[in-house]
Amino acid sequence: MNQSIRFLMCAPDHYEVDYVINPWMEGNIHKSSRDNAVAQWQGLYYILKENAIVDLVPPQKGWPDMVFTANAGLVLEKNVVLSRFLHKERQGEEPYFKQWFEENGFTVYELPPDLPFEGAGDALLDREGRWLWAGYGFRTELDSHPLIAKWLDIEVLSLRLIDERFYHLDTCFCPLTGGYLLYYPAAFDAYSNRLIEMRIPPEKRIVVAEADAVNFACNAVNIGQTIVMNKISEGLKSAIKDAGFAVEETPLTEFLKAGGAAKCLTLRVNEPIIPDHHANVTIESKILQLEGHLLDAGIMNKALDIVIGSGGSFKVLNFNLGVERQSTSNAEVRVSAPSHEVMEEIMIQLIDLGAAARPTEVCDVNTNLVTQDGVAPDDFYASTIYPTEVRVNCEWVKVDNQRMDAAIVVKHSSEGITARCTLLRDLKVGDQVMVGVDGIRTVRQAESREQRNSSQEFSFMGAGVSSERRVELTVEQIAWELRQIRDQGGKVVVTAGPVVIHTGGAQHLSRLIREGYVHTLLGGNAIAVHDIEQAIMGTSLGVDMQKGIPVRGGHRHHLKIINLIRSCGSIANAVEKGVLTKGIMYECVKNNVPFSLAGSIRDDGPLPDTEMDLVKAQEDYARHIAGADMILMLSSMLHSIGVGNMTPAGVKMVCVDINPAVVTKLSDRGSVESVGVVTDVGLFLSLLVQQLDKLTRPLVHK
Ligand SMILES: NC(=O)c1ccc[n+]([C@@H]2O[C@H](COP(=O)([O-])OP(=O)(O)OC[C@H]3O[C@@H](n4cnc5c(N)ncnc54)[C@H](O)[C@@H]3O)[C@@H](O)[C@H]2O)c1
Repeated sequence: MNQSIRFLMCAPDHYEVDYVINPWMEGNIHKSSRDNAVAQWQGLYYILKENAIVDLVPPQKGWPDMVFTANAGLVLEKNVVLSRFLHKERQGEEPYFKQWFEENGFTVYELPPDLPFEGAGDALLDREGRWLWAGYGFRTELDSHPLIAKWLDIEVLSLRLIDERFYHLDTCFCPLTGGYLLYYPAAFDAYSNRLIEMRIPPEKRIVVAEADAVNFACNAVNIGQTIVMNKISEGLKSAIKDAGFAVEETPLTEFLKAGGAAKCLTLRVNEPIIPDHHANVTIESKILQLEGHLLDAGIMNKALDIVIGSGGSFKVLNFNLGVERQSTSNAEVRVSAPSHEVMEEIMIQLIDLGAAARPTEVCDVNTNLVTQDGVAPDDFYASTIYPTEVRVNCEWVKVDNQRMDAAIVVKHSSEGITARCTLLRDLKVGDQVMVGVDGIRTVRQAESREQRNSSQEFSFMGAGVSSERRVELTVEQIAWELRQIRDQGGKVVVTAGPVVIHTGGAQHLSRLIREGYVHTLLGGNAIAVHDIEQAIMGTSLGVDMQKGIPVRGGHRHHLKIINLIRSCGSIANAVEKGVLTKGIMYECVKNNVPFSLAGSIRDDGPLPDTEMDLVKAQEDYARHIAGADMILMLSSMLHSIGVGNMTPAGVKMVCVDINPAVVTKLSDRGSVESVGVVTDVGLFLSLLVQQLDKLTRPLVHK
């Protein structure tokens, strides 16, 4: 017997599956055999007795799961952190375990009543004593980990469980002598798997397949080079043997019905302390404020889903419900994450939802100096389309030039403090760039119930394929808004790809330009080339647009056109010379509608008007987008995404594409202004023109 190892067990006198608090119990209520359970428990007890001292805590009637002593608490030397059970079905075990620990000379630490932690079921010491692996996600709250680290003065590595069958860490994770680890990776999220892989070298990781994991292979007791466990596969047995361990199998099927096996039935109560290892917690917590239609717009759900989905944990500290139909709600939520990295990932998403740290907590955003032109400091905050404010000198400062994927430069000058979205290439040595995620908020407009409902009615990209009637309704609404913008002197920007021409949309887009509905056209080389090809030769990419059939030698048409326009010097010159007499580009020139053609690697020619310097092309696009009320994006993924990134929230964007994925990407900006239309662009344009014709006021013909 190894005198230095001591376990606590509890005889199964009152063991029974009496309730369902994990998936294993489902369908097993009152289905376990007491006699078998006693025999199996004794089998384990005698094996352990041969290798260690086994203490017993008296079983208590009415607390059938007391047999699983792993959940009594977490012991390190003579200190124990007592469990705070999540389910009321087990909370009654706490005083009996507490009594046993006190009677046996342990210093007992107790967590606050509302902070669940389920003992050594969710906290496993590295067998070299270097750190503590602590689970969370089902039974234990992440916020308990910093307290455990403090009380036991040990480094805590938090692992998130994501498969409810493996609801405790010890059901899927078993640290072994010599720094080995037996575990089932699919029970953990990606971040946790990365953490495990960083700490345990590959040759020491014994990966358990699902078939063994569901037989509780990881719920094993390790004593020196022996592992005591329920029956496992031959394959796993030989992997364990190859790592230098002896497997001692003992059947524990009666306990599997309640979701436990060898490890759950034992608690090691003399875990030695390793000198020179001290508390080190990477867990971060922040208190955030949220405001808006938190319930009926689903913001609260989204926020809490983000926290959990990204590997964090939360506690709603207060929630003030707006009681009137239009009034908003506000809430304070404490968010915890296992590391700074995860906290930043959560915060970036919550900031987009409008969450911010309590203003009293951050007076100034963190900034770092740019030390190389065009290069932002590490950890710089990447801006979004939403209006943003940053904390400087304890005030909120509005960020100018709002756009996506830029750095925020904060400047103090005699005129005051400014913050501005700045492209990486425009950063200069000495600029102060915001880093991290503290002291920033996005100002999200609280949409009224009516706006929200109409936007759901109006945008239907989530549904994938849209019915014809819905397309018509959407087009009707867009036509109405186009008319409004035109009549009020607003600005509509169209970005279009060559599919507009191939699908017969050129005549309709030409008409929209002629009738004053389009104020700027953005595109690439292709829209212009194919439009001019159609205007001059009647083909688009060599296909006869009247007959719909390829023309002999037609594949060269677009090159001839490019050559022709090149000989004129520009599209405008071609119009002036009478070479180009109709089409989209012609209407732009004739109606003084500015256009910008951005080059790409696919371009033939290019046309003299196509800007092949991409930085210049981007700047030109940005200038044209400024002040837009609506952007119509017509079947050009490349140019539409480029435009989307430059456009701040608040500008209505209508994205038309046959591919639902493109529409979703562009329309899903989480705001009422975005509309997606999954349809053929030629059909869309023809419907749009029809709808405009139907509007009561006659069109103004120029
Ligand atoms: N000859 C040339 O110089 C030439 C030719 C083609 C493209 N280009 C250039 O290549 C770049 C990318 O071109 P792009 O914007 O055409 O390609 P893209 O792939 O970025 O976008 C095309 C989009 O059209 C959609 N689409 C296809 N059929 C549709 C339909 N019937 N109705 C609605 N949507 C439909 C697709 O789903 C896709 O999203 C541009 O810069 C363009 O100018 C140049």
